[in-house]
Amino acid sequence: MKNAGAGKSPYNFDEIVSRLGTGSIKYDRGKLLGHPEDVIPMWVADMDFRAAPEITKVLEETVRHGIFGYTDTGLDYAEAVVGWYERRFGCRLDPSWLVKAPGVVFALNTAIKAYSSEGDAVLIQTPVYHPFHSSVAINGRRLVDNTLVYRRGRYTVDFKDFERKLVREKVKVFILCSPHNPVSRVWTEEELQKMGSLCLKHGCVVVADEIHSDFVWEGSRHMVFTAVDEAFQENAVLLTAPSKTFNLAGLHIASTFIPNPALRKKYALETERTGLSQLSVTGINACRAAYERGEAWFEELKRYLEKNIAYTSDFFRANLEKIELVKPEGSYLLWADFSRLKIAHEEMMKRLVFEAGVWFSDGLSFGEAGRGFLRINVASPLKTVSAALERLAAFVKKL
Ligand SMILES: Cc1ncc(COP(=O)(O)O)c(C=O)c1O
Repeated sequence: MKNAGAGKSPYNFDEIVSRLGTGSIKYDRGKLLGHPEDVIPMWVADMDFRAAPEITKVLEETVRHGIFGYTDTGLDYAEAVVGWYERRFGCRLDPSWLVKAPGVVFALNTAIKAYSSEGDAVLIQTPVYHPFHSSVAINGRRLVDNTLVYRRGRYTVDFKDFERKLVREKVKVFILCSPHNPVSRVWTEEELQKMGSLCLKHGCVVVADEIHSDFVWEGSRHMVFTAVDEAFQENAVLLTAPSKTFNLAGLHIASTFIPNPALRKKYALETERTGLSQLSVTGINACRAAYERGEAWFEELKRYLEKNIAYTSDFFRANLEKIELVKPEGSYLLWADFSRLKIAHEEMMKRLVFEAGVWFSDGLSFGEAGRGFLRINVASPLKTVSAALERLAAFVKKL
């Protein structure tokens, strides 16, 4: 069961670390929802691995220093983020484009407020990460959906519908999920070029959420949105964070890059309106350490996740042939179609938790287009993933 090669690594992704009672929403929310105590949680996009030792070391030093006053992100921070983008994607962002944020969802909300007014249309592509829906609704904007097309096990964009809606609804902001959560698409350069050009043509700001961009699997390549076409610097907002890549969501640190000074000014003003000035010293130091020294850990993690994904895909082929796993191109979140099991969606989600003992993300939380689907987070030690899959197979066999 040990993941081949893991023994030679200085990092141990096989270690099972108990997270119960730590306030972790992945583990402790189950109790509030009345879930069985031993349910295996594979829902929220949060990994079960200890952070890179390079990050823990910096945090220990920060704690030992013992003074936690107001701390700025500064130029070193900007260079660390920019350096990561340059090394990973061959794309140089300008440090002066950076505006700090305590999270990508915070940044999404801020961008919506900065570039649209109440009642204006915001375009998303369902099924998609649920805060894309709620950020639009909560700010009194109008949700417009360019539903992704699911055909022969793969999702694509309906460009005709995309342009029709941009024009008809006078869309002010398009929230692009790149790579896409939950359908696991890594958009090609051509697809990004088409979406970006249409937005540019029709005066719509593109907010590109690239939080999953470091997890891209063989055969795909992530294209940084502003690097697809220099013209996109006119109307693009790039959102990124180390919170998925290094599992630092609890440290609340993210970065927004906005090349266009006028758009940057609007966004910065909206951030100021929230009352946010500095971020946490732990988040800033951890982010810098991650981007400056975490690459070896991350490469090892990627190899581990690739094996988990391969294991899961093989397991589905061998034991769960009625559930179709959408071929993962990016992220550690797998999207599965269980509609051939012919069980009503709501009943299926409930039975998975209470009968099978596995807790996956509910496809419907990503929109109606997610009916009949569930999302499986495989960023856990292989032993945990394998135990969950065995439970799922035993449950399906009994149906
Ligand atoms: C597409 C996407 N954006 C943003 C987030 C969350 O970002 P943050 O925790 O920085 O708000 C997630 C988390 O799963 C995500 O999948």
